Amino acid sequence: AVERTLSIIKPDAVAKNVIGKIYSRFETNGLKIVASRMAWLSEREAGGFYAVHKERPFFKDLVSFMSSGPVMIQVLEGENAIAKNRELMGATDPKKADKGTIRADFADSIDANAVHGSDGPDTAKVEIAYFFPALNVF
Ligand code: CMP
Repeated sequence: AVERTLSIIKPDAVAKNVIGKIYSRFETNGLKIVASRMAWLSEREAGGFYAVHKERPFFKDLVSFMSSGPVMIQVLEGENAIAKNRELMGATDPKKADKGTIRADFADSIDANAVHGSDGPDTAKVEIAYFFPALNVF
């Protein structure tokens, strides 16, 4: 089915100047960018986005990293977009990511791991609404 998923190019990848290279991977693999915006998240916005991880030991570092510089946020649309994007990203830990994936090619560590992507249909809905509330208003 045609799905939408939320994608974030994280501060490490924006700083490396590889937004275009990452967009090109989405586009050549059948994912269409149907909304996008650049933002420098506050700790409050980053913490709200990652609220499900609030009790995890890495939460504080995650929030401070995600608010350390600008990010590029987009909605990707396509056939099986959620799984397709996760496949293109590779494993959360770049050391474990398959060759040729975005994280294997552009990420440095599990914290600075270049991209985020929704992990399922329910989170995709919530995450898209978090950054693009207007998309849910018809
Ligand atoms: P992301 O897909 O954006 O979702 C949560 C982020 O937390 C994850 O990518 C990683 O960058 C970061 N993180 C740091 N440590 C861990 C961990 N042990 N397990 C999962 N995510 C982690």
